[in-house]
Amino acid sequence: PIVENPRMTVIGTGYLGATHAICMALLGFDVLGVDVDSSKIAALQSGRVPFYEPGLSDALSEALASGRLRFSTDFAEAAEWGDVHFLCVGTPQSKGSDAADLTYVDLAFTELASRITRRALLVGKSTVPIGTAARLTSLVQAVSPAGTELELAWNPEFLREGYAVKDTLHPDRLVFGVQSVWAERQLAAAFRPILEEGTPLVVADLATAELVKVAANSFLATKISYINAMAEVCEATGADVNLLATALGHDSRIGSRFLKPGLGFGGGCLPKDIRAFAHRADELGVGQAVAFLREVDSINQRRRVRTVNLVEELAGGSVRGLRVAALGAAFKPNSDDIRDAPALDVARMLHEAGAIVTVYDPEAMENAKRSYPELNYADSLAQAVEEADVVALLTEWQEFRDADPDDLAELVAHRRIVDGRHALDAADFRAKGWEFRALGRPA
Ligand code: UGA
Repeated sequence: PIVENPRMTVIGTGYLGATHAICMALLGFDVLGVDVDSSKIAALQSGRVPFYEPGLSDALSEALASGRLRFSTDFAEAAEWGDVHFLCVGTPQSKGSDAADLTYVDLAFTELASRITRRALLVGKSTVPIGTAARLTSLVQAVSPAGTELELAWNPEFLREGYAVKDTLHPDRLVFGVQSVWAERQLAAAFRPILEEGTPLVVADLATAELVKVAANSFLATKISYINAMAEVCEATGADVNLLATALGHDSRIGSRFLKPGLGFGGGCLPKDIRAFAHRADELGVGQAVAFLREVDSINQRRRVRTVNLVEELAGGSVRGLRVAALGAAFKPNSDDIRDAPALDVARMLHEAGAIVTVYDPEAMENAKRSYPELNYADSLAQAVEEADVVALLTEWQEFRDADPDDLAELVAHRRIVDGRHALDAADFRAKGWEFRALGRPA
């Protein structure tokens, strides 16, 4: 028998877990969020989201006010209470290797399963190497007092930072990786409000469900690196990658989304996911099938170096001793996440090349200061560009898109700008006396 209105726990209240817990409560389920980090739990329980995500703070307040959401650090309470457990802990890149670090996943599954004495469904949502769910199934059976009453399923998550609430409540599709009809039905009950909206559902085996996630992120990364590879060709030929991307994107088979050229991808997902996938494929003996992902990665890294080169070219060959304003730190706008952020990588390289780099970002300042104490930080866009020899736009926040070339010109020492994200109107800047360079576009 399935539980029609299951009590849910969400283990791991980072980016993915906190969003999932809040959204499930908003959909009408009783939800318990669990994490080993008591400061995170205290923040969430008091209505504070410990990271920046548009709309999530209001959603948390609403969910807490409904009485359907609470938080705890107690795995035993979660084990006793939940019908469906969503496991949302992180799988960072291992130190010194491309492999995913599964320490937290293994720990979360065993900590929980060893305390469960009733029928329940364990649902993994973390991004994992193919074969992890099968291995966890044995691990869970070995440690669980409930034995066969406990079943494991996989439900990959595709939300984007910056759109987390919308992507969770209205996903493009749901994927259930299951081992029985019972698990499929129990998951369908847990996602009923979303399925009732007509959201496409793919029911699959565990391995396929795991693969969907890494294959999707690899495809997205490949699409970005494809257009950035074309940008390199453009640079060698005087062609314009922006016009190229527009023209390619009009072909509906190609599509314009994720075809935006520039400084390339970063963040806590795409870079580490393609590396972990390539690594896992090697282990499985099919490394050749995804060998191109290493090329995707190196195209992406080269864009960062090329951006540094553009700044140097504008500065007359070297940035040593010159002031560079670095606009942006987050890996993309509407986020304070600086994991593998292209913007900070470029700022770091400019600093290492001898520039005096001043960073400004609307949301990611605290995170950036903690990880890159060697850089200078400004409190505003105006302060960052003051007396700058070169300005580099590295994350396309709306505030930077809206910046007026005349206003900026008043502040800088030299009107030189590199647009690393194709966010500015080149003609407008040039008309107002700026030397303007952008990746993949003619000088
Ligand atoms: C990505 C995927 O888009 C989500 O579907 C997935 O769920 C998530 O990873 C994850 O695995 O958790 P996210 O990392 O939030 O989401 O960010 P994206 O919007 O995918 O952007 C990634 C990077 O690509 C950013 O640095 C962005 O600036 C860059 N990008 C994106 C481009 O350079 N060009 C584009 O056309 C699009």
